[in-house]
Amino acid sequence: MITPTLLGTAVIPNNGGELRLTQRGNDFSIHLKGLRGELMNSRVHSSELALAELGCAHLQGVQNTTVLVGGLGMGFTLAAALKATTKSSTIEVAELVPEVAEWNKGPLGECAGRPIDDKRTVVRLGDVAALFKTNKPSYDAILLDVDNGPEGFTHADNNNLYSLNSLLAIKQTLRPKGVLAIWSAWHDPTFTQQLKKARFKEDVKTVRVWQSATKLQNT
Ligand SMILES: C[S@@+](CC[C@H](N)C(=O)[O-])C[C@H]1O[C@@H](n2cnc3c(N)ncnc32)[C@H](O)[C@@H]1O
Repeated sequence: MITPTLLGTAVIPNNGGELRLTQRGNDFSIHLKGLRGELMNSRVHSSELALAELGCAHLQGVQNTTVLVGGLGMGFTLAAALKATTKSSTIEVAELVPEVAEWNKGPLGECAGRPIDDKRTVVRLGDVAALFKTNKPSYDAILLDVDNGPEGFTHADNNNLYSLNSLLAIKQTLRPKGVLAIWSAWHDPTFTQQLKKARFKEDVKTVRVWQSATKLQNT
């Protein structure tokens, strides 16, 4: 049994506690200190890829698209979004914890093939929620994977992200036919109702045994 090595720690804004990066052999883990749990492990990432593949499927061959990924984690969703879109497209990635972006510039970046270094990637440090306050239709796809499901896990403020008001604000930032895709470890019927109230056309896709992503089309 290999003991994990602590590679870095970071303070999550707004009293979110401590985020830790550890390495065990070839595997990396980003988790919350104590018993709060894991946000991301490099060993299991097919659903993070699926989030981008599903959320960007409508952008195949389309020029000059803009996709928002929230958050960066280990960069798997970002890498898949870069792959799923044309060379003229831009992928913005919002990341709350600046150290996560720094970690991606080091050995952690190798996990997903260093997508942070791609010239089409634009890193936006800060809360992804701030980008939904513009009311401007800016994104052809929004790929959200900031918690483990539609409730605040990384920090309590994220609870607001899944409220009706937030979903309506997100909808305003989507271009016509834009897609919002949300990663979740479970199917949440109450959240599904919330999405319907926000007038999204909703489609739950189950990926592998325990992970699912909800794809929502702007009308
Ligand atoms: C589950 S990981 C993302 C995994 C990522 N999809 C991947 O492919 O590796 C969640 C990430 O979202 C970030 N995050 C959490 N809340 C956020 C917020 N409100 N705004 C931006 N980033 C956030 C965390 O710091 C973490 O890096």
